[in-house]
Amino acid sequence: QDRATDAVPLALVEVADGIAWVSLNRPDKRNAMNPALNAYMHEVLDAVEADERVGVMVLTGAGEAFSAGMDLKEYFRETEEKGHLAVRRAQRDAYGWWRRLRWLEKPTIAMVNGWCFGGAFSPLFACDLAFAAEDAQFGLSEINWGIIPGGNVTKVVADLLGQRDALYYIMTGETFDGRRAAAVGLVNESVPADALRGRVAEVAKVLLEKNPATLKAAKDAFKRVVEMPFDTAEDYLVVRQESLAFLDKTEGRKAGIRQFIDDKSYKPGLASYRR
Ligand code: ACO
Repeated sequence: QDRATDAVPLALVEVADGIAWVSLNRPDKRNAMNPALNAYMHEVLDAVEADERVGVMVLTGAGEAFSAGMDLKEYFRETEEKGHLAVRRAQRDAYGWWRRLRWLEKPTIAMVNGWCFGGAFSPLFACDLAFAAEDAQFGLSEINWGIIPGGNVTKVVADLLGQRDALYYIMTGETFDGRRAAAVGLVNESVPADALRGRVAEVAKVLLEKNPATLKAAKDAFKRVVEMPFDTAEDYLVVRQESLAFLDKTEGRKAGIRQFIDDKSYKPGLASYRR
């Protein structure tokens, strides 16, 4: 598929009630990620980030799959035939949109509707939260065709799973369902397939009530401090909170204190302040 000439976009974006529902859109290929899709996703993320109607982004897949991982024909075989530089470029585009997604200005939720293999663990991890259909199927299938989980998938499972579960799935390639994905910590929750979109919309609605500048600082702070020693993290969090005070032109922190202490209009332990 060539995005310049193809009438069907490689990802669909539907904006409703503050949520951008982004669907990887190669359903006939189980949303396998080819170089054209990976390049196109940079444009999609730019558009979602700039769209003032959007407060939360959901990433999902059209049809039966979330994503069947990297496109074995187009991302690997055909790109390798073009040589080393083409391989590096394809990697840059793929890793690049996942990295961009990981640090997106807006909160992100992965909605795993079906098949999720190999390289698809990378955009799954990049999303701040993840929800799966109970019958969605996950697998680290790399071992089944003779490679190791690259595209940082080994790092993803090292960060999210315990060692026994990680090595079990890396070494056996066995598939597991959404329930199991929730039990091992790969996703937040699994729900019946017909309840998935509703549950994700419900969580997105909670996020839409929060201060967006604080949400961005909070998710980045978590993702940064997990890699820091204790005292460095402590200092980083002081500085990050102070930078938030500068970035949040609504001065949400002051309003939050005022509405509780002076107005007595809400309880911060139980709900968000009124923005
Ligand atoms: N790369 C390239 N093409 C793919 C991929 C993929 N990862 N996944 C599916 N397709 C294509 C198939 O070749 C087929 O194409 P065709 O219609 O032109 O013949 C089409 O998508 C439909 O696939 P089927 O296998 O017929 O679909 P089915 O629903 O029976 O099975 C399943 C779905 C289980 C996802 C199967 O397609 C599959 O095993 N895909 C590969 C999964 C995988 O191991 N991905 C790589 C992970 S490792 C990594 O990402 C680095």
